[in-house]
Amino acid sequence: MAETNLDIDTHPTEDISVRDVFGIDTDMVVKGFAERTSRVPELDSTYKFDPDTTLAILAGFSHNRRVMIQGYHGTGKSTHIEQVASRLNWPAVRVNLDSHISRIDLIGKDAIKLKDGKQVTDFQEGILPWALRNPTAIVFDEYDAGRADVMFVIQRVLEVDGKLTLLDQNQVITPHPYFRIFSTANTVGLGDTTGLYHGTQPVSYTHLTLPTIYSV
Ligand SMILES: Nc1ncnc2c1ncn2[C@@H]1O[C@H](COP(=O)(O)OP(=O)(O)OP(=O)(O)O)[C@@H](O)[C@H]1O
Ligand SMILES: [Mg+2]
Repeated sequence: MAETNLDIDTHPTEDISVRDVFGIDTDMVVKGFAERTSRVPELDSTYKFDPDTTLAILAGFSHNRRVMIQGYHGTGKSTHIEQVASRLNWPAVRVNLDSHISRIDLIGKDAIKLKDGKQVTDFQEGILPWALRNPTAIVFDEYDAGRADVMFVIQRVLEVDGKLTLLDQNQVITPHPYFRIFSTANTVGLGDTTGLYHGTQPVSYTHLTLPTIYSV
């Protein structure tokens, strides 16, 4: 991950008319990036934007709000965020928080490497520190299925100036001004009451209250 660094000095300069680009009846203008870099999601020109959810996602991008999109399976939650990002030329990465992802996957780990014929330990950064340092949106899918150890890590970066401390590395990562966090979930964070989503966990109260916009 660390090798694919984006230009961290770049910032959104382009005015994007929400009416023209998303077909929503509003005079709102949002900023997007001028350049379409390799991590910007591919454009699906057939995607239909539901106005309320689109406006919530746009507020997430332009005002650095944490937005959680909740809805049934296959209703277009993950692609909705990607398709908005695509039109703002905003790089985005998706992380599925299913029960296989661990704290180490997210943060990183020490790996043994050969350097000048000697074995040295080298910290391999996980996806979260990488995303934090870059002008990118991170989308946590299946937010309600995340393991407790993983959710505690995410909780630390949910605050607007949420810094991430890598204890083993003696490092504090300050989020890039254009780093953004989104999440998608099938349940509203109270566990599954329908029986449709076996394996989901109740989302802790902090996780439910921190996202400033909550779109259903
Ligand atoms: N409004 C839309 N316009 C066009 N295509 C859509 C729309 N909504 C969903 N789709 C298509 O439906 C498929 C499922 O969407 P997506 O994976 O985003 O759903 P999801 O809500 O994230 O599902 P899950 O709960 O399984 O994660 C995708 O192929 C997507 O392109
Ligand atoms: Mg999804």
